Amino acid sequence: MNQGRRYPKSPVFYRALDRELPMIVRGEGCWLIDDKGRRYLDACGGAFVANLGHGVAEIADAVAEQLRRVAYVNGTAFTNEPVEALAAELRTLSPKGLDYSYFLSSGSEVVEAALKLARQYWVESGKPGKHKIIARTPGYHGNTLLALSASAREHYKKMYGPWLVPVTMIPAPYPYRCEPNSPAMTAQALEDAILKEGPETVAAFIAEPVGGSSTGGSVPPQDYFKNVRRICDKHGVLFIADEVLTGAGRTGKWAAMEHFGVTPDIMTLGKGLSGGYVPLSALITSSKIIEPLTKGSGGFKHAQTFSHSPSTCAAGLAAVRHIKKHNLVERSAKMGVVLHRDLSTLAELPAVGDVRGLGLLAGIEFVADKKTKAPFPRKLKFAERFTSAAQDAGLVVWPNVGHAGGDDGDLIMIAPPFIITDSEIAEIVSRFKTALEKTLEACHVHR
Ligand SMILES: Cc1ncc(COP(=O)(O)O)c(C=O)c1O
Repeated sequence: MNQGRRYPKSPVFYRALDRELPMIVRGEGCWLIDDKGRRYLDACGGAFVANLGHGVAEIADAVAEQLRRVAYVNGTAFTNEPVEALAAELRTLSPKGLDYSYFLSSGSEVVEAALKLARQYWVESGKPGKHKIIARTPGYHGNTLLALSASAREHYKKMYGPWLVPVTMIPAPYPYRCEPNSPAMTAQALEDAILKEGPETVAAFIAEPVGGSSTGGSVPPQDYFKNVRRICDKHGVLFIADEVLTGAGRTGKWAAMEHFGVTPDIMTLGKGLSGGYVPLSALITSSKIIEPLTKGSGGFKHAQTFSHSPSTCAAGLAAVRHIKKHNLVERSAKMGVVLHRDLSTLAELPAVGDVRGLGLLAGIEFVADKKTKAPFPRKLKFAERFTSAAQDAGLVVWPNVGHAGGDDGDLIMIAPPFIITDSEIAEIVSRFKTALEKTLEACHVHR
């Protein structure tokens, strides 16, 4: 196991109570360095966050300068320069018509806000009966109670079941495990669900454009979101594209929805929006959605102390300008091709069932049987063991479980900073192989 600090010596209530965590003291580009001088290749940007790489001084400088000027003003009493400038940048980058940004801190918060905005839109448009949410399984939208209700993460939901609200689930498109023309793949499942619930009761459909911590890098068929848009328009349902993970260039376009030529009613951004330099998220929407609020109650009924904060928006502004200045979205597309070319060689290895993704987002799914696609028994904890073996080999990857039915399914995700080089990609592949050898050995999997 890793060297590190051990609970309960430290006063920190750690996120992981079952293992020792190394102490990271510095980040440089795609690398993290611990207090023993060990270097880790950060192949998933932490949690799909460090898109620009670690240690970018100009972002730190921009935040420091803003903190010296004014760190905080409340968004109900004042506006501020960074929030205005960042919203202007996002207006030019977002799909046409998505002109207005509302800023929060985390992905879960902004998903909650997007769902609440959809509800408020319908209430203020004179259709208070529209309250139901449709989401997908597998799917992940966050861990606060409404976002968790809209997520299909049984191992997170079980404990808090009595507090969650009912959300209608439809199957997500998952090319590795779905029949090509099944209702999940064509979006017919969405129309079936809307008709079953009654269109007059459905407020919104929320989906990840490309699977993140759910179907792990699965890319839907090209016409999937065109069908979603048509079905939502036909039945008066708002479409929320949750780009918390895929947005800000991760898939090789600013918004992953651009790959599908579809504009949602509300789009969310988080994670990479500030490149991880501060917690920052945004929902972006159109005048159509805001108008009933302007004419009606006069404001969005979702108040949070840290919305529209000058300090966090200064970090977002510096990150977005850095992405533009260094053509990092184009670089994500270009290096994505290299990443997928090199990762595709892993498909031959034992236990590797599928390798997929788009841009600098990749998922590698492990299976017990490559022919039947049967997952490993959950008690083996294959993905977790692989992730630990990878960290021992100096490679940071993101594990995901529970996508292959019930609690089953093991995959890991690769989502490096956009500045990744050819040789660092080769290093990911080499360290992946080392970690896989160790995991197969530890799990007694015969090759
Ligand atoms: C698509 C998507 N939405 C929302 C969230 C929640 O974001 P956060 O963990 O910042 O609350 C995540 C996190 O992984 C995500 O992948």
